[in-house]
Amino acid sequence: MSLSIIILAAGKGTRMKSSKSKILHCVAGKPILQHVLDTAFSLKPEEVVVVYGHDAEQVRNHFREWSLTWVEQAEQLGTGHAVAQALPHVNKNNKVLVLYADVPLVDVNTLKPLLELQKDQLSLLSVKLDNPTGYGRIIRNQENQFLEIVEHKDASNEQLEINEVNTGILAGYYADLKKFIDNLSNDNVQKEYYLTDIFANAVKENILVKTMLADKPIEVEGINNRKQLASIERYYQQKRADQLMENGVTLLDPSRLDIRGNVTIENDVTIDINVILEGDVKIGQGCQIGANTSISDSVIESNTQIFANCVIENSLIKSGCRIGPFARIRPDSELNENVHIGNFVEIKKSVVKTKSKINHLSYIGDSEVGSQVNIGAGTITCNYDGANKYKTTIGDNAFIGSCTQMVAPVTIGEGATIGAGSTITTDAPEHKLTISRAKQRSIEGWQRPVKKTK
Ligand code: UD1
Ligand code: CA
Repeated sequence: MSLSIIILAAGKGTRMKSSKSKILHCVAGKPILQHVLDTAFSLKPEEVVVVYGHDAEQVRNHFREWSLTWVEQAEQLGTGHAVAQALPHVNKNNKVLVLYADVPLVDVNTLKPLLELQKDQLSLLSVKLDNPTGYGRIIRNQENQFLEIVEHKDASNEQLEINEVNTGILAGYYADLKKFIDNLSNDNVQKEYYLTDIFANAVKENILVKTMLADKPIEVEGINNRKQLASIERYYQQKRADQLMENGVTLLDPSRLDIRGNVTIENDVTIDINVILEGDVKIGQGCQIGANTSISDSVIESNTQIFANCVIENSLIKSGCRIGPFARIRPDSELNENVHIGNFVEIKKSVVKTKSKINHLSYIGDSEVGSQVNIGAGTITCNYDGANKYKTTIGDNAFIGSCTQMVAPVTIGEGATIGAGSTITTDAPEHKLTISRAKQRSIEGWQRPVKKTK
């Protein structure tokens, strides 16, 4: 039996105090709604229908590449009304799951049991909260059988004592939902069509209502303000950190690692504090990542040491390298085995072959550096003439003296030596010393300038 998923996203999100739609705010670098969509699609539904009201342009634009059915709920007349707008777009033979666009962390393993449904059956996800204020209460009879949901604003004092509440997440067959939703009224304190009223009506018609208790309240919590956004973020990060430690990664402080993406880390990796890993990152066995380092969309192979305060983007760093402290590896760089990149070195769109060293204060851009090359302190590849970029090629075993400028396009031959302080504008031959600086001389009688008296 196929599944249709309805995601309710018409709420205003006023409490975020943001010009950006609430559901585009990010948890772990990913929009809140995208968390819900990823979970939804992992259930392999036939269709996903998103009910929107506000910020339509912004939200639809952001997800334009997703295969979604967008349904407008122009006026927010309640959750029942919202689902009613979506139902005409749902396959009438399907099971239907209702999710909330602002509840990002609900786990697919929590949802699956809700979908083990018969016809003439509805299921709902409840949760026990220490503070149930604001939520719809789950009302049961003395035999503990489910009777109905009563919204906070409609509840009696006695009902307000109940701490089992409705998460809002529910499932049922289209036909059952349709029948009960068509019969909703807005005869309540808020004058809204409450989706939750379908359950009391179902019970009256001897339809089985299966309730399931979510075991982690925070995973079914909605985000309404920035404090909740932050606490969901922290919970998510703690969970990722726990998974890493279970898999053999040492975290010097699990509360000071942030993961925003698809990150794979092998065992015996050690990560110091304040590290940020973003996008698709892979870190191989035995690597060490220093404090305050940020790595995005990169692969770091095994046993590489990244010292403190490095920024690495969209690059491949092979095994046995030593990078930093204070190194910046910019996109499209490839550092082969046992390369050393030291402090205040910037590498951009360059390949550095094995065992080469660029240890101090250098800029290497649009370059191909051979293996066992030594690049002295303060060396610059002048790759840009103000209009176009050009390539620098440095052969194996070359030695580039400190403070050399290589004005690209230029090639330094294999085994070449460049004298310190040279400006290299034409190719330097293999195995020779090339030096461009003027001969040193001392000027007789030269005097330092002195300060003028007024
Ligand atoms: C709802 C439930 C309540 C539950 C709580 C959990 C109802 C009547 N009540 O209450 O039992 O404990 O969620 O958080 O369902 N929405 C629309 N269109 C509307 C109204 C709401 O799309 O017309 C969407 C909102 O964007 C939001 C979700 O539905 O994502 C829940 O709406 P909200 O107003 O927060 O419901 P509550 O009154 O808090
Ligand atoms: Ca709510």
